Amino acid sequence: MNPAPPLSTETKAPATAAIVVAAGKGLRAGGSVPKQFAVWHGKPLVRHSVESLIGAGVAPIVVAIPQGWEEAAGNALQGLPGVALVQGGSTRRESVALALEALVDDAPARVLIHDAARPVLPHVVIHGLLAALENVAGAIPVLPVVDSVVRGTDGLRHAAVERDGLYRVQTPQAFHYPAILAAHRGWTANTGGGAAEAGDDAQVADAAGLPVALVPGDEALRKVTFAADLESADMSVHPRVGMGFDVHRLVAGEELWLCGVKIDHDKGLAGHSDADVAIHALVDALLGAIAAGDIGDHFPPSDPQWKGASSDRFLAHAATLVAQSGQAIAHVDVTIICEAPKIGPHKAAMRARLAEILALPIDRVSVKATTTERLGTTGRGEGIAAQAVATVVPR
Ligand code: CTP
Ligand code: MG
Repeated sequence: MNPAPPLSTETKAPATAAIVVAAGKGLRAGGSVPKQFAVWHGKPLVRHSVESLIGAGVAPIVVAIPQGWEEAAGNALQGLPGVALVQGGSTRRESVALALEALVDDAPARVLIHDAARPVLPHVVIHGLLAALENVAGAIPVLPVVDSVVRGTDGLRHAAVERDGLYRVQTPQAFHYPAILAAHRGWTANTGGGAAEAGDDAQVADAAGLPVALVPGDEALRKVTFAADLESADMSVHPRVGMGFDVHRLVAGEELWLCGVKIDHDKGLAGHSDADVAIHALVDALLGAIAAGDIGDHFPPSDPQWKGASSDRFLAHAATLVAQSGQAIAHVDVTIICEAPKIGPHKAAMRARLAEILALPIDRVSVKATTTERLGTTGRGEGIAAQAVATVVPR
């Protein structure tokens, strides 16, 4: 397979633009607003795929919306760069045609045409499509049909259908822009509105004689069609798990802070901040879950503003970064490793304090402790170590 071409270049004409069709009525999903404006995982459905396209470097993005929904669409896409709205048509194909015309003045080389109703858009699919466009005018993501297929009428099995060579077709569908524009214009002229409407753009391309390549789709690209799809917590968006580890030296004359709780002990932990080793491990776990570096990147020990700082602030900041990444903390689990002090009597207070800082219910916060049987650094009482695991899920 060819390497993926760059998504955008410094040249004047956009390399890859996108159309997101969001002008349907969402009749099968029902609800008080068309499904593309319904909130799913914390954001309007349409915002998910537009954000993903922006993240892939695609610009501009033309979003086709239904008449009368300008304000809802503006709110749903507020603050996103390079997004333009156009009024859609009475069928999906008409909506695409109108959006294609909106790109004419600043014609891109390639265009990705995507359903707003498919909120999860893995970048790997975009790369596969654009790589295919090196050789053909069109490319679509497909998945093989794995179940057997039959034709049926009135609830009765009618005839078997040969499954070999059948595929399920998804979006985005990718095309050389001038070719798909001409194909849509030709479709309108040829059918005069009389023929059966095209269900997707590959059908329009095919009618114009354009070759269309099949590239691997992704189950995550499933379309929201029915109300139950909107309620589904799992559109193949997976939880992420991060881990953290830290050690600090035990010395006389320092306070001992663990999980944001001050503990009476003859020694405390040494470090630049308050040296709360358990919170430091937990911060690294949270940062790891969102792939946002480590605690040193965010709070460099060389920066005097963190000298003696309460580690609560680091933890609260990590929680904010998780929220800003569009995710939520599902669960955290901390293990403190030391011979002394005894952690057991403090575990409940530690859980409560971590839950408070993270604004989580207590049953999503775990604090455990163990010794190393007097072996090694912690066994000799030279320091305290901590490990943490954090799970985050899309909101
Ligand atoms: N679409 C569009 N313009 C139309 C019809 C559909 O832009 N006139 C868009 C939808 O908003 C959706 C995509 O095409 O993002 C796929 O269509 P579908 O899932 O059928 O959505 P709806 O037509 O809105 O739903 P329904 O058929 O249940 O009414
Ligand atoms: Mg429809």
